[in-house]
Amino acid sequence: MQVNEEKMMALLGTMVGDMGAAMSAALVTLGDKLGLYRALATGPMTPEALAAQTGLAPRMVREWLLNQAAGGYVTYMGGAGDAYSMTPEQAAALADETSPFFVAGGFDVVASAHRDEPKVERAFRDGKGLPWGAHDTCLFCGTERFFAASYRGHLVSSWIPALEGVEAKLRKGAMVADVGCGHGASTVLMAAAYPQSKFTGFDSHGPSIDCAARRAKDAGLKNIAFRMADATSFAADGGFDLVACFDCLHDMADPVGCARHVKRALRPGGTWMVVEPAAGDTVESNLNPVGRVFSAASTMICVPASMSGGGPALGACAGEKRMSEVIKAGGFTTCRKATATPFNMVLEARA
Ligand SMILES: C[S@@+](CC[C@H](N)C(=O)[O-])C[C@H]1O[C@@H](n2cnc3c(N)ncnc32)[C@H](O)[C@@H]1O
Repeated sequence: MQVNEEKMMALLGTMVGDMGAAMSAALVTLGDKLGLYRALATGPMTPEALAAQTGLAPRMVREWLLNQAAGGYVTYMGGAGDAYSMTPEQAAALADETSPFFVAGGFDVVASAHRDEPKVERAFRDGKGLPWGAHDTCLFCGTERFFAASYRGHLVSSWIPALEGVEAKLRKGAMVADVGCGHGASTVLMAAAYPQSKFTGFDSHGPSIDCAARRAKDAGLKNIAFRMADATSFAADGGFDLVACFDCLHDMADPVGCARHVKRALRPGGTWMVVEPAAGDTVESNLNPVGRVFSAASTMICVPASMSGGGPALGACAGEKRMSEVIKAGGFTTCRKATATPFNMVLEARA
């Protein structure tokens, strides 16, 4: 096999970039955990000043800053004392947990992938999958923090208004289920925005339900409850006007069973909102940076989660066509893409 030197150098160049990004992921987690981004976002600082403000070792902080500036995550200003700063965009992505552009939580998910690598290795070998609850706990918090940013930016302002007649029902007073709610980031946002409506979050992972209940208490919300239950058998009581599934249908062991149960749980005229990764329907359409993130998360988390329950392992790259088939197999007659962002598509299913 003849190696083409030009192509070889180009490939190695890409890999060096990726290696730098991968090595630096732990430094992002450290910057987040140690308060370095939050402190630097308050204004330009020398490494010594940043170390003093955060109570950290100056030599460690100096080296961290060099790495972060090399990656474009902070800005090197130079001058006397080698000052660094953050642009408003860098601060929104890394220092402001309330920003819709906050991505630091995503690096907790990256950390979980490394910690769980031996468990996923086993899943490759034995084909038995890996349940959601068997992952390192930083996956659960990372998922909450990473997804919450997008929910803050889009859920109430554009995703719910994109559904036919749903916003008006929620303003008036409706019954809503958030199935596979995790730590309840979406449930809490909706309950705060629509105080006349009642929200129940369901998830099969007990520790997530406990955390979601704490989040609702901290937010002082009274129109919200969380129950540990499976997506195929949660209590429907008087029925729901809206059932929502955020980034979880493709993870499930029985997604068609979930679709069937949601149909039973909806009141006449009710809506099922299914938020899924905005993956393409073909391999080619996922060969891009977003598809790379999705397929990595899917290999480490989503596919083994479904396999652990003997499921179809739809994965995060299932795409609109496959997800619509699953939804319709559960008895829904219509399914349309109501809206989308670069990361998510919002499907609206009606019985
Ligand atoms: C990727 S997380 C998303 C969590 C949350 N919806 C969010 O957006 O932050 C997937 C969630 O689906 C839950 N889940 C998976 N299968 C489930 C099932 N059969 N019944 C209930 N919850 C399930 C998991 O426990 C996990 O909390």
